Amino acid sequence: MYFATAQGMRPAPLTHNPFNALVMPRPIAWISTLDANGVANLAPYSYFNAVCADPPYVMFAPNSAVPGQTKDTCRNLADVPEFVVSLVSEDDGVLMNATSKAYPPGVDEFAACGVARLPGELVRPPRVASAKAALECRVFQIVDLPLSADGRLNRVVIGAVVGIYVADDLIDANGIIDERKLKPLARLGYMNYGTLGEVFAMGRPL
Ligand SMILES: Cc1cc2nc3c(=O)[nH]c(=O)nc-3n(C[C@H](O)[C@H](O)[C@H](O)COP(=O)(O)O)c2cc1C
Repeated sequence: MYFATAQGMRPAPLTHNPFNALVMPRPIAWISTLDANGVANLAPYSYFNAVCADPPYVMFAPNSAVPGQTKDTCRNLADVPEFVVSLVSEDDGVLMNATSKAYPPGVDEFAACGVARLPGELVRPPRVASAKAALECRVFQIVDLPLSADGRLNRVVIGAVVGIYVADDLIDANGIIDERKLKPLARLGYMNYGTLGEVFAMGRPL
């Protein structure tokens, strides 16, 4: 089939928006922020990726669940424009999913979900203690995208990575990150997740 997106995202025979099931696997950013009172928020975002390696920049895309409302993560960034991306490993999948619940503003989601934290080095929000890697970020730019068909906000947050935590045991004797030890959890379509399958190297053409 082929469809023009202007005609809507569920043309027959599709029963759900297929976009998440096509643009995948996606890494999951477990994003911590602070509100104006210093209360920590934590939520997963899989519309997330690296956009530049040197200098390092990342993006993630919070939408709003309800027209006119903003997610806590996004609201917090207006007060404290810093965030930490804790990278989600397989072992943290259940806890990560628990933090996707829509808690009211002002709830410490680390405490509410029983997630241990460690303080940031160069930014104020904490990172997830069990994460094997984390990126400390300062907001570089927030871009407003067009509203969804039902009026929900869509934003892209671009962050400059100012500090990187890597668990020492991820680094092998040659100074290479061992992705097997990171055990990244990937977001697929619908409610599906995946883990790292076969890993192989392929050199670039000369
Ligand atoms: C694996 C996973 C990935 C998610 N990715 C996104 C995303 O990219 N953008 C988004 O707006 N919400 C995403 N969500 C939903 C948010 O995590 C959820 O709305 C959460 O309550 C937002 O929290 P906050 O209001 O504390 O920021 C995702 C949820 C899960 C479980």
